[in-house]
Amino acid sequence: MHGHWSSRLAFILAVAGSAIGLGNIWKFPYIAGVNGGGAFVLVYLACVFVVGLPIMMAEVLIGRRGRRNPIATMLLLGEEESGSTRWALIGVLGVFAGFLILSYYSVIAGWAIAYILEGASGAFANIDAAGVGEIFSSLSGDWLKTSFWHSLFMLMTLVVVSKGVERGLERAVRILMPALVALLLLLLGYSMIAGDFAAGLRFMFEPKFSELTQAGALSALGHAFFTLSVGMGAVMAYGAYLPSETSIMKTSIAVVCADTAIAILAGLVIFPIVFANGLDPATGPGLIFQSLPLAFGQLPGGIVIAVLFFLLLTFAAWTSAISLMEPAVAWLIEARDISRRRAAWMIGGTIWVLGFFSVWSFNILADFKIFGRTVFDNLDFLTSNIMLPLGGLAIVVFAGWVMCRNSSSDELDPEAGAGYRAWRFSARYIAPVAVVLIFLNAIGLI
Ligand code: TRP
Repeated sequence: MHGHWSSRLAFILAVAGSAIGLGNIWKFPYIAGVNGGGAFVLVYLACVFVVGLPIMMAEVLIGRRGRRNPIATMLLLGEEESGSTRWALIGVLGVFAGFLILSYYSVIAGWAIAYILEGASGAFANIDAAGVGEIFSSLSGDWLKTSFWHSLFMLMTLVVVSKGVERGLERAVRILMPALVALLLLLLGYSMIAGDFAAGLRFMFEPKFSELTQAGALSALGHAFFTLSVGMGAVMAYGAYLPSETSIMKTSIAVVCADTAIAILAGLVIFPIVFANGLDPATGPGLIFQSLPLAFGQLPGGIVIAVLFFLLLTFAAWTSAISLMEPAVAWLIEARDISRRRAAWMIGGTIWVLGFFSVWSFNILADFKIFGRTVFDNLDFLTSNIMLPLGGLAIVVFAGWVMCRNSSSDELDPEAGAGYRAWRFSARYIAPVAVVLIFLNAIGLI
């Protein structure tokens, strides 16, 4: 029923393609900025390695053991390991979370596409902080234009998913991800020379715990899930295609390190520009769109660099979006026995429609607030800070407590011994306790 990744590298590239996306370059700097920097970054890093990594490994091992879409996998393994079909709920919750995330993710990806054209038009040449603010608000405030870009991005995602994920993806990620990193390094050079690099470093790495609210700690946890693509079955769906001899531990560590490095790199590029130009680090979702163009406007060859950057960002968003849609599509194909093409159009179409509420959160629905938040903010909060941590908690409890030792050590076999014991300890104790503590803290119980 299932194909296989052609190699270990192909799997790493696919998972890295899923993990590395808008979360690293757009969301991490924006929420680090909103939550005061240093202390937030520290909690985020701790959550990535202490909670995110063991959960990623749990997802891959469950996926590979089940070799089906996440719902069917949880159904199968749940019955095998505990005699209960209820674990399938993890898959259902995940499919639904992917739906909701993609609906607003696509909006930001649409902005990135629009910025390819802004960059090409030369609009950033020698621009100042007021100018970038104007370009950004005239785009995000335009419901028609942003609806168009959202639609285009959904169409791009749908087309790839309808053809099946294995093809083409690996080759593209292999070339374009390094290109994105190279460009970020170039921009890092700019930030070190022309930005206020010292202020950027201080903001990101000097932890001021008085600045971190309980809600901020919860977003750091939520973002660890979001940026690694864990907690909803996306990695589980990819794990289903993983050859059985590949080391789950090594591949997961590689992906987690690459993902974290890119987020930190993005922060190191953006904050020095923010401080050198008197921008507010707590600007919100527009932060990268209002800071990076200042660099493009001053760099020699800035037009080419701007176009390339937003092109690569769009591409990174695209490979992530595919993984958000894949679990739902894989499930629909197997459950309803319909063609991949039809399933992709049905799911993609629904997400597309839902996405308009997020597109319009920045213009015609900007004043429509529930719990004091726009639809966009509510969707982000609900999915990143609640659904993913809950899904991840259930996954890691399943892998650590419900699955028998033989099953999990079977899958993690190549690294049996200390590595396996460390994983199992984190999966049983550290990760679940950390998630529960941060939740209790966020609702004010501790
Ligand atoms: N991790 C991606 C990013 O950082 C977004 C993403 C893709 C995702 N697939 C996911 C988030 C699954 C949560 C769950 O941009």
